[in-house]
Amino acid sequence: MFEIEWTKKELKEIYKIDMWSAKKIEEFREVLLTWYDAQEAEHNFPWRLTTDPYKIWISEIMLQQTRTDTVIPYFERFIEAFPDVQTLADAPEEKVLKLWEGLGYYSRARNLKEAAMQIVLQYDGVFPNKPEEIAKLKGIGPYTAGAVSSMAFNLPTPAIDGNLMRVLSRLFEIDLDIGKAKNRKVFQTVARYLIDPERPGDWNQAMMDLGRTICTPKNYFPEQSPVKEFNASYLNETWQQYPVKKPKSKPKPVTYIALILKNKKGEYYMEQRPSTGLLANMWTFPLVKVEEIITDGTWKPFKPVILEALDEEEKAFTVDYVKENYGLAIQLNEQTSGVVEHIFSHLKWSISIYEGVVDKELEERLLDSNHAWMSEENFENYVFPTLQKKLWESYNKLTLF
Ligand code: ADE
Repeated sequence: MFEIEWTKKELKEIYKIDMWSAKKIEEFREVLLTWYDAQEAEHNFPWRLTTDPYKIWISEIMLQQTRTDTVIPYFERFIEAFPDVQTLADAPEEKVLKLWEGLGYYSRARNLKEAAMQIVLQYDGVFPNKPEEIAKLKGIGPYTAGAVSSMAFNLPTPAIDGNLMRVLSRLFEIDLDIGKAKNRKVFQTVARYLIDPERPGDWNQAMMDLGRTICTPKNYFPEQSPVKEFNASYLNETWQQYPVKKPKSKPKPVTYIALILKNKKGEYYMEQRPSTGLLANMWTFPLVKVEEIITDGTWKPFKPVILEALDEEEKAFTVDYVKENYGLAIQLNEQTSGVVEHIFSHLKWSISIYEGVVDKELEERLLDSNHAWMSEENFENYVFPTLQKKLWESYNKLTLF
């Protein structure tokens, strides 16, 4: 899966990529790795002090979409709780999610546990050492398979993500859109020529470091790069054109109401989200799409305003909705208690917080397992997404004065 797919001649003819001579490739490795070896702080990343494939795998999953300094404490807590494949495979999912709380993209945490179970079942708990087998584990794609194989098993497998594509596209003036999945293989072939067969893991990490610290998406100063003499886009002054990346379509706006409902004991009514979809299985205040509450066509998307007085009609609709769907008779405050925005990759949620008290819990409707009354002290026993924390903070900021 990591073989060279195109000859140098084909790279030139098909993609207009001028692959270097063997000598120049050698020189590039030398310059890059000399620079890498001189970086002190980076070598103390805890995942660089080990060749354990399990630990490297956990770190690589955490490092996707998350900065290194954010990841360090998460990584250390996770490894302390689950030091090896077996403990992760045996762990309750909630415990894994709890340690992931705040990192986002929770399916990654669920996949980690599933992959650990796969390793126990299929490989007797020993992390597989072939890239093809690693890539079959749940949640592991070519990037992670390449990273783990190179760093733990010293195999010449490039770890191609957006960062490496940006670096390569500037080095070789590659005109392919780095946002298109089908182009990844071309970048992989380019990297396959360049990767150092003696130190493939260090080569991948050196390229990542270059992408993170110098060859950044913005505020890029190519003259500061240790490999500027190899950088075609710098030498030809075309670097502002690279990487080629078509802008993504904007996330679709959706308006929600978060219901903060307290009972006489001061407990909050909480809801567990369904086991599939966004924020699966995690607990939040009940979140209701506004279109679901107001279905008669009179509702217009609104831009939520902090402490806006609630529209009487909207309030009445909400009270009815809560009675019908949650079996709770409530009284709502006159004003909203904050507004939170939350972006998932394809959706933008605008959430208005409505606070209310529960008059009476209808006797005949017992709580099912997806609903609970929670006191604030009890919060730590549940898994909350970042979104819930934002709601809680916004609500407290506006109500505690
Ligand atoms: N980003 C992704 N993987 C990384 C690694 N191993 N070190 C530093 N940054 C990274």
